[in-house]
Amino acid sequence: MKYKSQKVAYWFFAACMLLLSLQVIYGFIMGFAHMGFDGLHSIIPFNTARATHTNLLVMWLLTGFMGAAYYIIPEEAERELVSVRLAYVQLIALLVVGVTAIIGFHFNWWEGRKFLEIPRPLDYLVVVDVLLFIYLIGATIWKGKRYTTTSMVLFFGLLMTALLYLPGMIPTDSQTMDSFWRWWVVHLWVEGVWELIMGAILSFLLIKQTGVDREVIEKWLYIIVGFTFLSGILGTGHHYYYIGTPKYWLMVGGVFSALEPLAFLAMAIYAIAMAKKGGRSPDNKTALHWTIGCSILSFVGAGFLGFAHTLPQVNMYTHGTLVTAMHGHMAFWGAYAMLVLAIISYSMPIMTGRKLQDTPMNMFAFWTSNIGMVAMTVAFGVAGIAQVYLERKLGLDFLGVQKEIEVHFFGLILAASLFTLGIIAFIWNFIRFGLPSDQR
Ligand code: HEM
Ligand code: HEM
Ligand SMILES: [Fe+2]
Repeated sequence: MKYKSQKVAYWFFAACMLLLSLQVIYGFIMGFAHMGFDGLHSIIPFNTARATHTNLLVMWLLTGFMGAAYYIIPEEAERELVSVRLAYVQLIALLVVGVTAIIGFHFNWWEGRKFLEIPRPLDYLVVVDVLLFIYLIGATIWKGKRYTTTSMVLFFGLLMTALLYLPGMIPTDSQTMDSFWRWWVVHLWVEGVWELIMGAILSFLLIKQTGVDREVIEKWLYIIVGFTFLSGILGTGHHYYYIGTPKYWLMVGGVFSALEPLAFLAMAIYAIAMAKKGGRSPDNKTALHWTIGCSILSFVGAGFLGFAHTLPQVNMYTHGTLVTAMHGHMAFWGAYAMLVLAIISYSMPIMTGRKLQDTPMNMFAFWTSNIGMVAMTVAFGVAGIAQVYLERKLGLDFLGVQKEIEVHFFGLILAASLFTLGIIAFIWNFIRFGLPSDQR
């Protein structure tokens, strides 16, 4: 570790491992409920499990991005973080707010808006916490010796993520307007500013791991930022087809969102090309696997499977079905979960001083979780297509169709078990590394 304060990242990553474990448990609760085994219904009904599962996901990814920033920024700016103590305060506050929200969901204290379920009073606390985070990162860059493209893109992505949380808090009684603003948060995060965070973290990982010149790697960042803004902003229209917004969104949303896969394709080519160009044997093969894997699976999950249902003619049938869940799993996993697991894999040997990165267990974690997630995606896809056919083509009623497709969730549970084995292995490796050390 070049700078002592980088080790703050360890605690953010440890929190990620904990939240990810909880997320998986709630996934199983829903998987079994879909199969007809809903024994926990009176304590954890499906809506509670769903809100908990997805909010835990968003929370551990944001925690992971913050950890990544605390690790990356000192090295890029060439100075220690402005305050390590405040970084710990920020983490603890974030966890307290997050856990309060999750507990609240179990007592029906929530807003009922998919992905933005956190009750309003807690929203304000989230805003304060994130402002503190942005200040710590911003001030470190400002006082640092060096401004790099990587750190600027990372900072801008994080700052925009914070600002874009606000439209979700605009009060309105109109269902249409509520949906309209909700997508500014949900869509413009994952298909806009989070892509900047992704491009920047990939850039850092590739600079460190391939030995290719920074100038070459950072040039790609401009291309990615360009593609993202060109397609992602107006691409929001693919959520405005049928919510009561004007008709022109059918055209605007269809055309621009169809271009969105380009940014993910650029990221995949970028990562693979740089790794090839570098040509040197990496001293952390596991981290390079996660880095390249992230760039490829994000293209498959977000780019390819996103495109599969983005045209209005298709979305009319697939909207809000398990086809969406199919895409949601692979996209979140490929782009953002793998990204966080990549920076964790890269930084752990450096932060702890223990060279345990390339054990067979690490490769097991990588392949098992990824094969498991691909299988889960297939299971959701098959269930989704059956659902679309029975419900939207043949016109059977929603609950009748849910009964018909119960059998597909047996496959989902099997696939999810494989996935979970991989995640357990990953967490096991994380624990084996032990605590961070001050030795450089
Ligand atoms: C990493 C990037 C992405 C992530 C994490 C992601 C994730 C998700 C999630 C979770 C949903 C469900 C949202 C909700 O209903 O509240 C969704 C919906 C959707 N996504 Fe993505 N997505 C990504 C990129 C893309 C891309 C690039 C496209 C198009 C090419 C796309 C097309 C769609 C469409 C059309 C829907 C609406 C589905 C419906 O009508 O039910 N997504 N996405
Ligand atoms: C053991 C593993 C998991 C299982 C069994 C599981 C299962 C499920 C189920 C049954 C749903 C609800 C689908 C519905 O609405 O009917 C769901 C939703 C969701 N899960 Fe998972 N999940 C798992 C892990 C994950 C992981 C690792 C991620 C992200 C990387 C993830 C992301 C999501 C998202 C984004 C949604 C919302 C999808 C949508 O908007 O349609 N899940 N999950
Ligand atoms: Fe979208």
